[in-house]
Amino acid sequence: MDLGLKGKVAIVGGGSMGIGLGIATRLAAEGADLVIFARRLPALTKAAENLASTYGVRVVPVTADIRDQDESGRIVQTAIDSFGKLDILVNNDGAPPLGAIDSFDDMAWQKAIEQNLFSVIRMVRSALPHLKAAGGGSILNISAISAIQPIAKFGLSVATWAGLIGYAKTLSLEIAAHGINVNTICPGYIDTDRLQKVFNSGTQDPATVRAGLEAEIPLGRIGLPSDIANLVALLVSPAGAYITGCTIPVDGGLFRALR
Ligand SMILES: NC(=O)c1ccc[n+]([C@@H]2O[C@H](COP(=O)([O-])OP(=O)(O)OC[C@H]3O[C@@H](n4cnc5c(N)ncnc54)[C@H](OP(=O)(O)O)[C@@H]3O)[C@@H](O)[C@H]2O)c1
Repeated sequence: MDLGLKGKVAIVGGGSMGIGLGIATRLAAEGADLVIFARRLPALTKAAENLASTYGVRVVPVTADIRDQDESGRIVQTAIDSFGKLDILVNNDGAPPLGAIDSFDDMAWQKAIEQNLFSVIRMVRSALPHLKAAGGGSILNISAISAIQPIAKFGLSVATWAGLIGYAKTLSLEIAAHGINVNTICPGYIDTDRLQKVFNSGTQDPATVRAGLEAEIPLGRIGLPSDIANLVALLVSPAGAYITGCTIPVDGGLFRALR
């Protein structure tokens, strides 16, 4: 199925690895030109070169820490300078540390808010005039299943992503008339370096931790970045244009509620 993404321009956060690279790969395979950003240059440059040579699209890497308030404008301007327009914004990056919710000081909370909420608010503020000028487009946020089914020790993320979900829903109402849809995907456990670090962080054998998680997941396996990217590609394409304001788990059935 041709999703109609050829020639579209997308910004993909955290595009050097993990879920972000999975999304960048899928959009590139569909023929979209990309700006990808992350903090570390080597992995970012390698990803950009691989995507461009494999799929014959243009990919511009931008090194940026999305918690820095000046970076959103620079990233969006890079897309406009490079491609003359912007159609799709994918908000994805890292996440705050894990720990007991009462153990964090104001600085830790501030950083978490910058990473999970303010980064999106600023990216949207910078991107919106260009999405409107393009006559429509898509904003897609990557959050986590813990934002809708909280997990102990994930408090910094749970609290800040809950704010993101409220922000995204409100935004979807306000910009629907411009033909811009806004959705948030909540991944379950996805096989990336980040998850591997979680497997390696405790005292238990990583293979045992992995097997324990797999046993919890109704579909019986850890997800892949491509499992997330497949839905992203649909939601940011003309085929997904009628879907907006949604918060969607992609988790192998892990989310156990009716809504
Ligand atoms: N993997 C999972 O099981 C899972 C499940 C639910 C939700 N999520 C969420 O999905 C998102 C992506 O996770 P992932 O597993 O793909 O992580 P990952 O493999 O660690 O990749 C994170 C990407 O974001 C970039 N990044 C991190 N912090 C950044 C910052 N401050 N500014 C700019 N770029 C930044 C990283 O590059 P640099 O380090 O070079 O900046 C990298 O490209 C995270 O928010 C995570 O919490 C993941």
